[in-house]
Amino acid sequence: MSTTHANKSTAAHDKTASKQSKAAKHHDGKLQEFFHDEIKDIYWAEKKLVQTLPKLAKAATSEELRGAFNSHLEETKEHVNRLEKVFSLMGEKAEAKKCDAMAGITEEGASIIEDTEKGTSTRDVALILAGQKAEHYEIATYGGLAQIARTLGHQEIASLLEKTLSEEKKADTTLTGLAESSVNKEASAE
Ligand SMILES: [Fe+2]
Ligand SMILES: [Fe+2]
Repeated sequence: MSTTHANKSTAAHDKTASKQSKAAKHHDGKLQEFFHDEIKDIYWAEKKLVQTLPKLAKAATSEELRGAFNSHLEETKEHVNRLEKVFSLMGEKAEAKKCDAMAGITEEGASIIEDTEKGTSTRDVALILAGQKAEHYEIATYGGLAQIARTLGHQEIASLLEKTLSEEKKADTTLTGLAESSVNKEASAE
């Protein structure tokens, strides 16, 4: 009785699974294409950040902020590597597609450096704000992409994206900490 029941339940499960995979396949084409495109977009953004973070570090007044940018630079290089792994897991070659959002965010970062005075805490407040805009863009992107990867059944890709997501969140928290603990207060006295 219990065996029959188990068999019945397995058969029912198989039927559901095959139905689900059929349903998934039906949508996969377009969603997979969209996902692939978005990976190209964040790949461009990460490579752009590898070029930009050293500039933010160089422009920083406080040693701590410089250190935070430099250590996130090392993580960002790893984000680029992870995305290359994502491309290869999809059987695709790594390809970057210009991300207009990150192009704008980094352009704003450059103008912030120009508009603030070297050696001041106000410069650091501005750099933190610029850095956090980039991190929040990455957090939104990786959060969404990890979810899509799971929907598409790409568990290994989802794990890679989630690993990066947690480092983006940590970088954001570090910047918030610097603003709260010292930089904003010092700037308010300038
Ligand atoms: Fe990143
Ligand atoms: Fe980041």
